Amino acid sequence: MKNIILAGFMGTGKSVVGRLLAERLGRRFIDLDKEIEKKEKKPISQIFSEMGEPYFRKIEKEAVKGVSQLKDCIIAVGGGAIVDSENLEALKKNGIVICLLASIDAILERTKGTRKRPLLNVEDPKERIETLLEYRAPYYAKADCQIDTTNLSIEEVVARVLEILKTNG
Ligand code: S3P
Repeated sequence: MKNIILAGFMGTGKSVVGRLLAERLGRRFIDLDKEIEKKEKKPISQIFSEMGEPYFRKIEKEAVKGVSQLKDCIIAVGGGAIVDSENLEALKKNGIVICLLASIDAILERTKGTRKRPLLNVEDPKERIETLLEYRAPYYAKADCQIDTTNLSIEEVVARVLEILKTNG
């Protein structure tokens, strides 16, 4: 069976949806950022602050390569992963890439109150979200399909993914 890859911006629910989906389907769940943290033995925010974003992107790419060899897994990747076309290509080889979307306000609401996301750790996170989303939209559009999660519960997003799998799985 193909992997199911959940991509999309921070705060769109990739990890929670992925975990529940894996439980439903009895498949293994992999959170790519958690794998990177395990390998580097430090949180993503510390990798960014100590080594910089280019270093993070380099190890993210290696991690993508690794999980792209697997089958049967549910994989959540970080919000910037599929902005790299080679990453998207690798993930598509063994899997269906589903991009989760959400409105700027929903993303702001869902990501506030945590310092875990270095890219949003700025004075005006709303402006940062707008700028990043505008830049990333064409890359997110290259996923196999998209789900707007703005007004959906986690259960409802899982149900949409299951519907997609019926026709594309
Ligand atoms: C990033 C998203 C984060 C993490 C890193 C960079 C991004 O993952 O990979 O902070 O570029 O959008 P989540 O999307 O899981 O928060």
